Amino acid sequence: MPRLKYASILRVLVLVGLLCIWIQIMLAASSSGLDRDGEDMMNINETSEQVLALVPQELHKYLLVHPKNVTGNSTERAGPKNITSIRRAIERSNDAQTIYNEDIFGPVQNDTVIIAIQVHTRITYLRHLIVSLAQAKDIERTLLIFSHDYYDEEVNDLVRSIDFTKVMQIFYPYSIQTHPNEFPGVDPNDCPRNFKYNKALKQKCNNALHPDVHGHYREAKYTQTKHHWWWKANRIFNQLQCTTTHTGPVLFLEEDHYVAEDFLHMLALLRNTADKTCPQCEILCLGTYLKTYQYHLNSDKVEITPWHSSMHNMGMAFNRTVWASIMAHQDQFCAYDDYNWDYSLLHLSQNRGAVGKFKVMLCKGPRVFHIGECGIHHKKSNCNASTVIGKVQKLLQTASSHLYPSRVTATVTFGGAKHNKKLLKGNGGWGDIRDQELCANMTREGRQMKKYFFT
Ligand SMILES: *[C@@H]1O[C@H](CO)[C@@H](O)[C@H](O)[C@H]1NC(C)=O
Ligand SMILES: *[C@@H]1O[C@H](CO)[C@@H](O)[C@H](O)[C@H]1NC(C)=O
Ligand SMILES: *[C@@H]1O[C@H](CO)[C@@H](O)[C@H](O)[C@H]1NC(C)=O
Ligand SMILES: *[C@@H]1O[C@H](CO)[C@@H](O)[C@H](O)[C@H]1NC(C)=O
Ligand SMILES: *[C@@H]1O[C@H](CO)[C@@H](O)[C@H](O)[C@H]1NC(C)=O
Ligand SMILES: *[C@@H]1O[C@H](CO)[C@@H](O)[C@H](O)[C@H]1NC(C)=O
Ligand SMILES: *[C@@H]1O[C@H](CO)[C@@H](O)[C@H](O)[C@H]1NC(C)=O
Ligand SMILES: *[C@@H]1O[C@H](CO)[C@@H](O)[C@H](O)[C@H]1NC(C)=O
Repeated sequence: MPRLKYASILRVLVLVGLLCIWIQIMLAASSSGLDRDGEDMMNINETSEQVLALVPQELHKYLLVHPKNVTGNSTERAGPKNITSIRRAIERSNDAQTIYNEDIFGPVQNDTVIIAIQVHTRITYLRHLIVSLAQAKDIERTLLIFSHDYYDEEVNDLVRSIDFTKVMQIFYPYSIQTHPNEFPGVDPNDCPRNFKYNKALKQKCNNALHPDVHGHYREAKYTQTKHHWWWKANRIFNQLQCTTTHTGPVLFLEEDHYVAEDFLHMLALLRNTADKTCPQCEILCLGTYLKTYQYHLNSDKVEITPWHSSMHNMGMAFNRTVWASIMAHQDQFCAYDDYNWDYSLLHLSQNRGAVGKFKVMLCKGPRVFHIGECGIHHKKSNCNASTVIGKVQKLLQTASSHLYPSRVTATVTFGGAKHNKKLLKGNGGWGDIRDQELCANMTREGRQMKKYFFT
């Protein structure tokens, strides 16, 4: 009798112990999610004197961090955000399709260069991207479209303070921020990533039938980037009123990129060169990942090669003709079990039938740089934005006499065997049927006329 009692007490203790561990894991998981946003959102003055010294005085305003009212009231940031009002603001903004500064710089033309910038929460980098854009030649003829998946007044204020060209904001409407407890965010009844298939079936969690190629269930934060990329491209080419007859290039940037002052000059040069010598070069690319830069050798060199996701995803540009081809094979993007937008595009590229793979014409001396290389997975402590930005500034200063080449010389390469390998299985993370459906749904929305609000 006492032995039995002892055993059952032990069992209870073990169960309680397991429960505690489980709760801890869940807490850790959710707080790391929070940390990520919180950490990235921290808008401290990280700009060192050296970096500031190389930024013209009149652009310092974009780096100006308004100190938080620490003494007064900090509950505003820490406390829960009012989702209802954020959703309403997003809907209203998307309906209005406001183009700021159109009165100063004139309307969007058919051949206006559209620069699409995908923004999450890394405002420090965004500030520096804006400073680099401000210094680019011909920037006043472009339209900057900032596409946000996180609604934040500080970011909005920064974007709306841009006065050197036309600016538009679009807001991804299916974000985790605005869907905290439901798909495409995390539904409490979704299967946890590591649930085994049989266990999931038994528990009847939402997506039990749809693990990915590796047997894992979806993680909302990893699917969001691909959704956002796809939504943004659809929004720009298919839905906005101002692009109805647009045939010019759309250049894709991200919040932690940084441009050289001649990037628009290079884009035009690549387009002209491609039109004359490589009409099958559908994608133009201004960035490459290099360890060392040799502008004195490479500033006027371009390369023609099969487009590859991991090498040519930074500062790429294409026009509506190319988009039409992507649209024609959209299921290769949406139904492919890979949460990376670039690998999904590579899969599409490899499955276009007779047209063949995308060819890219790229700058061997890059004009777009990745300054946020500390990435999401690193801690702030070993990651100092100023250090990387300072390096890029110095590099461009040294290269300045090699910028604005009047012509370029192209070499044709066929890419290594590794890069021509046919993708078979995807990287996973995109097995959930709801993700595939949401992606497909995004292409079904048609052109939307601007709504005017009178307040
Ligand atoms: C940021 O800090 C630097 C020195 O680290 C200072 O010179 C600069 O004025 C500060 N900038 C702003 C906008 O607060
Ligand atoms: C900071 O908060 C205090 C008290 O709420 C307020 O009086 C003050 O105007 C605030 N300062 C700024 C710069 O917002
Ligand atoms: C901060 O603001 C909240 C609501 O606006 C208020 O309830 C709270 O008392 C304020 N706290 C401080 C320290 O002023
Ligand atoms: C959120 O804001 C709306 C209007 O802006 C208001 O009606 C609603 O009560 C607010 N909800 C919360 C939880 O504060
Ligand atoms: C823009 O393209 C449309 C349709 O192709 C055409 O009707 C219009 O004249 C063009 N506008 C300009 C300014 O070129
Ligand atoms: C759009 O891109 C295609 C493919 O690169 C090119 O052939 C075409 O000339 C471009 N259209 C315009 C209007 O520039
Ligand atoms: C970042 O590095 C610069 C020098 O490269 C230094 O001046 C600055 O204080 C550092 N900032 C932080 C936040 O560590
Ligand atoms: C996609 O659209 C269909 C039809 O409007 C709708 O029933 C379905 O719920 C949508 N799916 C997702 C995941 O948004």
